[in-house]
Amino acid sequence: MNGSDWYRASAPGKFVILGEHAVVYGKPAIVLAVDLRMEIAVRGSRYNTINGERIDFRRQPHLRYLTRNATGGLEFQTSSQIPVGSGLGSSAALSAALALALGEMEGRRMTEHELVEEAYEAELYAQGIGSPMDASACVHGGGVAVNLPESEGRHLWTVTRGDRTWSVSDVDVPDMTFVIGNTGIKAPTGPLVSKVKRFRDRSSFAMDIIDDIEQTTLQGSQAIARGDVEELGRLMTNDHKLLSILGVSSRELNKLVNASMPYSYGAKLTGAGGGGCMVALTDRPEKVCEAIRSRGGTPYVVKTGVPGAMMHP
Ligand code: PMV
Repeated sequence: MNGSDWYRASAPGKFVILGEHAVVYGKPAIVLAVDLRMEIAVRGSRYNTINGERIDFRRQPHLRYLTRNATGGLEFQTSSQIPVGSGLGSSAALSAALALALGEMEGRRMTEHELVEEAYEAELYAQGIGSPMDASACVHGGGVAVNLPESEGRHLWTVTRGDRTWSVSDVDVPDMTFVIGNTGIKAPTGPLVSKVKRFRDRSSFAMDIIDDIEQTTLQGSQAIARGDVEELGRLMTNDHKLLSILGVSSRELNKLVNASMPYSYGAKLTGAGGGGCMVALTDRPEKVCEAIRSRGGTPYVVKTGVPGAMMHP
């Protein structure tokens, strides 16, 4: 192998099935990887290019961070099925795949934990905030949980930044079909997290809601372990109600959730909210897609239980 060989890697996108926002306050959350993937190929080159264009590193902070030790130029090719900026982990998947490919190029087989640290650091460099949930799901695939009690799930790794610690464990994911509905509205995570914080600072009622989300997530973890889709769907819908009370849903998200409900075990917003995506658990994906489309959303039928970051020949 030499610098002009291509190194190809891919990583999956993800969605939060239960526990977003509450996780900011140390509560548990569960994230599932999906079969929408980001693929990246890299090789040595005279100039730094991505998809045939010169790289502007100010616009590509993830690339800038991950290539900080590169000694020569690099040529990248990317192709992605993950919509950008909609809470489905496109930047974490890019970081995970890139960290893996660059490591291999340097002759290093990185462990999953090393990849998570590298991808998470790239996310922090680019965005300033966030938890290692996305990076963990995109690296490991399948399902991951943060802050679950030790008795549940196999412990994978602990990530620490300053005085914050996340304990990440593996979630066994049964075969399930979800439909993700993208509102097409981009809503950055930071202001929504701040909105919940303001509510919490003003009212003890908000903390009660966060505790209710915690209980819902813990019950959801058991439902996933039993493969009980009916119970899991009910808990997802309940979580959507709780997130709505916290003020992070929107008219568009509610429209897509309501439209999906007649054909689903349950549905909820996923990720930060305000816009972005919702997700429905269903065994009638075509019906849910139609309902989402008829309300102006873009549906994606996704499978879970997919592999994490991997190299390709
Ligand atoms: O925007 P996403 O899908 O990465 O989700 C954000 C999840 C929050 O709980 C709202 C914030 C966080 O950092 O955990």
